[in-house]
Amino acid sequence: MTATIPLLSSVEAFLAGPLSLRIGGHRLDGDGEFDVVDPSTGGHLCTVARAGEREVDLAVAAARRAFDGAWSALTADERSKLLWRLAELIDERAEVFGQLDALDNGKPFAVARDVDAAYSARHFRYFAGWPSKIEGATIPVSEPDRLNYTKIEPVGVCGLIAPWNYPLLMAAWKLAPALAAGNCVVLKPAEQTPLSALYLADLALEAGFPEGVLNVVPGFGTEAGAALAAHPGVDKVGFTGSTATGRRIVEASMGNLKKVSLELGGKAANIVFADADLEKAIPGAFWALFGNNGQSCTAGARLYVHSSIHDRVLEGLIGLAAKLSVGPGMAADGHDLGPVISERQMRTVTGYIDSGVSEGAECVAGGGRLGKEGFFVAPTVLTNVADDMRIAREEIFGPVLCVLSFDDEDDVLARANDTDYGLAAGLWTQDVTRARTMASRLKAGTIWINCWGETDAASPFGGMKQSGYGREMGKDAIALYSQTKSVWLA
Ligand code: NAI
Ligand code: MG
Repeated sequence: MTATIPLLSSVEAFLAGPLSLRIGGHRLDGDGEFDVVDPSTGGHLCTVARAGEREVDLAVAAARRAFDGAWSALTADERSKLLWRLAELIDERAEVFGQLDALDNGKPFAVARDVDAAYSARHFRYFAGWPSKIEGATIPVSEPDRLNYTKIEPVGVCGLIAPWNYPLLMAAWKLAPALAAGNCVVLKPAEQTPLSALYLADLALEAGFPEGVLNVVPGFGTEAGAALAAHPGVDKVGFTGSTATGRRIVEASMGNLKKVSLELGGKAANIVFADADLEKAIPGAFWALFGNNGQSCTAGARLYVHSSIHDRVLEGLIGLAAKLSVGPGMAADGHDLGPVISERQMRTVTGYIDSGVSEGAECVAGGGRLGKEGFFVAPTVLTNVADDMRIAREEIFGPVLCVLSFDDEDDVLARANDTDYGLAAGLWTQDVTRARTMASRLKAGTIWINCWGETDAASPFGGMKQSGYGREMGKDAIALYSQTKSVWLA
């Protein structure tokens, strides 16, 4: 038995429940309950209220009341103050959020606190500045004696559907711009990781948000998620998750033609050129994939290494993999990586490793499940990977790095772009001209040069091709949650 970080008393009290729906400032029962599993043990963690169609109806109605009432009555400055206050509360309770995300997601507590919670607070702080800066324009129309101006208005009620890989942070990416733009929201966290979203709803009330502005409906994708995506009272859906589910959401949106924005899967190419600074490129490429245990839509999953440095880079990667410690998110001694999210995900990931090996890849580190308890997968490096193998084409979403080799710049560019996805790509080189050319020619929404994984609340983020549409963060995110009205005055 390894020692575990003791639960904060506030976390104990929160988990004692009831872990009920947060609707209109109230705690409501669901249509039954569901079990949340501890991915570090595979055992039962807690029981949470399960929203179905009826509960989603109630939440949408509560959001509509707040939108037609208290929330829209506030001034821009008042909304700013609330968003800033919520950011401060997230910082103050970073340990609480760290424990909650570590418990149901399994990621290391220190990471959940110092990355997920800290960046969520920053996100709210950045968007806290926006309500007073959402400006329309006066347009020099050619009609005589007419004044034409635009007003930038909120969309209305937004359904936000979040994934489990960064439970608090992915919710924050959507909530902060949606609220800053003046919308009211119904958030459905992933069924694997509902805890930090429920806690955040309580914190929003503590910060002083009017009841009904931020509602949380935990539940399953096919129930609460599908109900939200199809709901005639929802004006917009913001979604992060798989490309398959993204397609279902677009279909469900057709009834009332609600606006949709989608952050979907990825299969990012990461290219190490012969002139790269390998001191930086090797750990950079390593963490591009193994960060968050490979459970990132931006994971640097296809590592293309120039043949002249291939063996040196591979040796470096194997060395780093051997040094990683993997263990429970709440382990007192701290680990680099936790378990993957679920038994299903563990089987998917180990299934991909087996499929790669059977198609001819060579496993040079890791290779399968770690231990018998919990959903741990050994950090795995596969080499001799060919572009047409399943492991090189499909999103694995786990700790599996595929290493490929190349000789020619044009050739590697074509191979990097030969994917249905287009979320992120990156390269390592000291040649500025090559860096700029590649950044132009790679078809992805984010390009990292000599770095990986950086995001900022001020910088747009989103996908090309089947990685989705819309850009979160920065002023693009305000546009995503707003609509423009043109006013003519005679
Ligand atoms: P998913 O896309 O099915 O789940 C994400 C969210 O969508 C969850 O809140 C879920 O409850 C909800 N959802 C599921 N079906 C829905 C529906 N019909 N209508 C509305 N909402 C629905 O992803 P899942 O099944 O958890 O993971 C499968 C794969 O998806 C992963 O292996 C990974 O490849 C990818 N994925 C990508 C993420 C990203 O950050 N882009 C995040 C999570 C998963
Ligand atoms: Mg799914």
